Amino acid sequence: MKITVVGTGYVGLVTGTCFAETGNDVICVDIDVNKVNKLSNGQITIYEPGLEKLFERNLKEGRLHFTTSLAEGVNHGEVIFLALPTPPGEDGSADLSYILRVADDMGKIITDYKVIVDKSTVPVGTAELVQTAIAKHCSQPFDVVSNPEFLREGVAVDDFMKPDRVVIGTRSERARKVMGELFAPFVRQGNPILFMDEKSAELTKYAANSFLATKISFMNEIAILCEKLGADVDMVRRGVGSDDRIGKRFLFPGIGYGGSCFPKDVQALVKSSEDVSYDFKILNAVMDVNERQKLFLMPKISAWFKNDLKGKHFALWGLAFKPNTDDIREAPALYMIDALVEAGATVTVFDPEAMANVERVIGNKVTYAANQYDCLADADALVIATEWSVFRTPDFDKIGSSLKNKLIFDGRNLFDVSRMEELGYHYESVGRAAANI
Ligand code: UDX
Repeated sequence: MKITVVGTGYVGLVTGTCFAETGNDVICVDIDVNKVNKLSNGQITIYEPGLEKLFERNLKEGRLHFTTSLAEGVNHGEVIFLALPTPPGEDGSADLSYILRVADDMGKIITDYKVIVDKSTVPVGTAELVQTAIAKHCSQPFDVVSNPEFLREGVAVDDFMKPDRVVIGTRSERARKVMGELFAPFVRQGNPILFMDEKSAELTKYAANSFLATKISFMNEIAILCEKLGADVDMVRRGVGSDDRIGKRFLFPGIGYGGSCFPKDVQALVKSSEDVSYDFKILNAVMDVNERQKLFLMPKISAWFKNDLKGKHFALWGLAFKPNTDDIREAPALYMIDALVEAGATVTVFDPEAMANVERVIGNKVTYAANQYDCLADADALVIATEWSVFRTPDFDKIGSSLKNKLIFDGRNLFDVSRMEELGYHYESVGRAAANI
């Protein structure tokens, strides 16, 4: 099938590459000339495990092209995916100006039947707005479909190639047939394509992400209770998650969720609710808990140093908002850094992928180490903010001899508390007793 993807950000690039991988003829459009040149020359612009190989192969075999010309893209694709940014405006609502501008322009170009697909996370009712914007200049038949993505950074290729479900919002039989055919190769294992109306599809995305964020904030509150009552959140998590109705995933407490989706989507759903005079109480609490959670370790750190962090030096492992990505959007580590620096401390950081991004944003507010062990030199304590696999079984002798004190504050519960006690560390984590040395 001939496919066009407008927007070569994270979602667009994964979408375009994965459609090319199943044999489609794909053109990706972006207004950024620099980016289009890089991509056309085989230089991938995002970090996503597994994507580069597919990208290179499909580019080489001629199924994947890049252009700055919207007209070329629109003329090419029978199905046109819109994967454009929807940043939160000041009031938390999604800013649709990119999508609506492109829709308006497309209306002037379309000359035969097209299926236009909203792939970005957009508020309920956006398909209707896109329909209106295109129809303003266009008398050709076309359908606007909502097809939200559920990709997780770090495993996006797998999520795209083997989705748990594909949600397709359209009431048009013609569009339904086209989309069903396009997605058939991705659901051969038997997972469903769920057809529904446009608004239900749009709400599904927000509801799914908000529910997952709720699970995390809920467990973060349980973790606090565990500490206050003397229980162990790891045990409680296992006990709770073994119930099929609840499930084991997304119950890990920590220093809060970040990233480009959860914070923005929860906020946008609260805003959409307000717009129809509804106070979504649970989600307001989910956001409050997450804000507080990002600084969960601070009182513990302050208490250890008797409320005086002036002149103290910290090593911080993990900057990305989660492992296997270089994405630092809403990363809890950045909030930790702010709080430590504000309290008069200095910080040296290490992350396997996200260092360059952090340096771009906060510059010399911190110092950057070449590896996780160099990071520890002369530090009063180690703080862990992201659960990268390389941090899970470190050389504790090396840590112990580099740090001034055998002292670790772990925001992701990487280590066993009793083992840390055996190793002679004072170790504090989330929702578990401290290894108190
Ligand atoms: C999420 C959704 O999972 C995906 O379906 C959607 O399309 C985009 O948003 P992503 O933001 O890539 O994906 O990351 P995800 O793996 O879901 O993690 C989000 C955040 O929650 C991370 O900060 C992570 O550290 C945190 N998290 C996750 C927890 O704190 N505890 C958990 O148990 C799980």
